Amino acid sequence: MSTRRLHPIQPEAFVPSDVTLAFAESVVKRYPPGRQQSAVVPLLWKIHEQDGWICEKAIEWVGERLGMAKMRVLEIATFYTMFNLAPAGTHFLQVCTTTPCMLAGSDAVVAACKKMIGPEGQVRADGKFSYIEVECLGACVNAPVIQIRSDFYEDLDGPRTEALIAALDRGETPKPGSSIGRHSSEPLGGPTTLTAATAGGDD
Ligand code: FES
Repeated sequence: MSTRRLHPIQPEAFVPSDVTLAFAESVVKRYPPGRQQSAVVPLLWKIHEQDGWICEKAIEWVGERLGMAKMRVLEIATFYTMFNLAPAGTHFLQVCTTTPCMLAGSDAVVAACKKMIGPEGQVRADGKFSYIEVECLGACVNAPVIQIRSDFYEDLDGPRTEALIAALDRGETPKPGSSIGRHSSEPLGGPTTLTAATAGGDD
């Protein structure tokens, strides 16, 4: 894994939203007196939800808020790859390219992202999209998979990925889950066992 560093271009200030401020107030109360630093990950995650990435000023803000050295917060923000350290598009796509997704066609998914958005890790000119390749998202059975915010889009291929991005571009909210109508993680073509309910639990 390459070294994760702060983005070379940084905003001059971090401005927490009212939601982030209220969360910061409440989250430290979850921990015993003197243990407020335990709130560092949830607080960074809330900022990530707000801005889509973690900037240096936000790291300083968290440190001041929790009585932590900036370096300690920086260590955590750079350790966990779930924290973006560079600006992301409004729609930030995490494209799984680990082996099961790769075998199921994630190359075509990445190619569709590149075609519709541009190079990996760069925000499209209109600010609406960016994407990165990530390791296993834990949904291998429905590979290939893209995560957007907290939603998983599954059973993708090139055209379905392009359609997903186009729908988001139009302001639509595509339904998460299988893009081919698969229910949960049932086999392709439907269930092959346990297809009939048994009465009264008898064999
Ligand atoms: S390998 Fe892609 S979700 Fe597990």
